[in-house]
Order: sequence, then C-alpha cells, then structure tokens
Amino acid sequence: MQIHASVDALRAALSGCRHRVLVPTMGNLHAGHISLIEQARVHGDTVIASIFVNRLQFAPHEDFDSYPRTFAADCAKLEAAGVDLLFAPTEADLYPEPQEYTVEPPAIQNILDGEFRPGHFRGVATVVLKLFNIVQPQAAVFGKKDYQQLMVIRNMTRQLALPITIIGGETVRADDGLALSSRNGYLSPEERTEAPRLYRELNQIRAAIHAGESDTLKLENAAIFALAAAGWKTDYVAVRQRSDLTPPNGSDRALVVLAASRLGGTRLIDNCEI
Ligand code: PAF
Repeated sequence: MQIHASVDALRAALSGCRHRVLVPTMGNLHAGHISLIEQARVHGDTVIASIFVNRLQFAPHEDFDSYPRTFAADCAKLEAAGVDLLFAPTEADLYPEPQEYTVEPPAIQNILDGEFRPGHFRGVATVVLKLFNIVQPQAAVFGKKDYQQLMVIRNMTRQLALPITIIGGETVRADDGLALSSRNGYLSPEERTEAPRLYRELNQIRAAIHAGESDTLKLENAAIFALAAAGWKTDYVAVRQRSDLTPPNGSDRALVVLAASRLGGTRLIDNCEI
C-alpha cells in the first residue's frame, strides 16, 4: 500500500490508475470501515482510502482534539484489507490556506444532527468535495450509520453533476447490536454494557410500525422516555421518510428511524430502516 500525504504526490501516484473507488475516513478504523473497503474492492480496480480528521466539521466545543488518532494500527488494517493507496494529509496539506470557499448544503443540513451540530454538514460536504476533486474517483463508499451524511453527499453529488457513484455500506454491529463507531471507545465498561439500548429502542419503533402503529410521535416520545430512564440525554429520536428525511406524510411507507443520544460524555448516533 502506498501512503501519500501531499496532494501532488497522490495525484502523481494515481495517474493511470483505472476505475478508482474512494473510502474517506477519519481513522481509528474498525470492522465497519473494513467492510466499506471490501465493498470498494468489489466496485473498482484501485481502492483509495483517506484518513483525515476534518476540523471543519467539528464545533469548537466538540471532540476534534481528543478524536482517537491511531495511524499505525489503521495502516496495518488498510494494508491487510487490500487498499492500494492511502491518502493521509496533514491539515497543512489539505488546508494550506483558510478554506473560505465551502459547500453550503440546503435545508437538510439544519435538521436532525444538523440542528444539534450547526455547520457540521457544511464541513463534511466541503471536505468530501475536496477529496473527490483530488482523487477523482468513479465511486465512493460511505457508511449508512451516518445516514444523514450519506444523504447530504448523495444529493451534493447528484446536484453538482459529479461523475461519481455513491455507495452506501451497511452498518456493522457488535453481537449485542451496538453499531460500531470510533466514539464507542469513549464509553466506560458500564456505559458499553448500556449502549445497545439505543438500537433496541429503534428496533422497537420499527416493530411497532410494522405491527400497524401510525402515531410516530408517540413512539418517538416513548423511546426518549425509556432512554432518559436509563440515564441517556437524547437529542432526537425521529421517524422520517427515507427519501428526504422529512416527517412521514402517511403515503410514503419507506421510512427510517434515526436517533442521537448521549450516554455520559459520549454522543452516539444510530438508525434503522423500516
Ligand atoms: O464519516 C466520516 O468519517 C467523515 O464525516 C468523513 C466522511 C470522512 C468526512 O470527514
């Protein structure tokens, strides 16, 4: 696996590489990321992973500084997974001057996670477009655990006519149902035991809707209440239409339930398609 930090070196290494598939990450890789790499291998000839903790998508009070950085272990995992090139720029490589031109996503950036993390999706869309411009992939893979992020990137790619196929990778879960996430590492042993409750609540909502319940507000509130009783502080539990993440209108039955909740100091997100 070749490793490049500079944009010029990566571009030189990529010249002549056929059908490129990009898997952007912020590192601290786990089995969820590796499953995205495996999908990338199926979809293309040259698999490029990136590791970059993107300051633009963190608010000043968030965990940018403490975000786990495990570069050597990540390289070993990517190499074993068959990645051809790793792009691992420093901040000076990717943002040699202040990034004043940004991608401003539409209203979707202000709902759900965007309501609680203002500016987050602007930061994500900006770095992803920049990575796309540098790597010029024919396809890119993003995890469905970050459901709203995947939608922002899909919509950006379509509306800006980027010639890139966006592939959504299924969420990988621990045996007890907890979605794998780099932030799970922040959980204490007790919190780790409690953490699967979030997915259990989402599954209960899915089961209730399948059983014919149509009062989604009641289901959302019941989940928020159950989480609060177990010590969680919930930002949202929301049943939404899969097509645009707006509330259900009764006719579109393709739904998804999304949640963000804090257990101690750790904010976990998850979702489940209905
Ligand atoms: O999902 C992530 O890890 C990040 O948001 C991404 C897509 C790599 C952009 O920084």
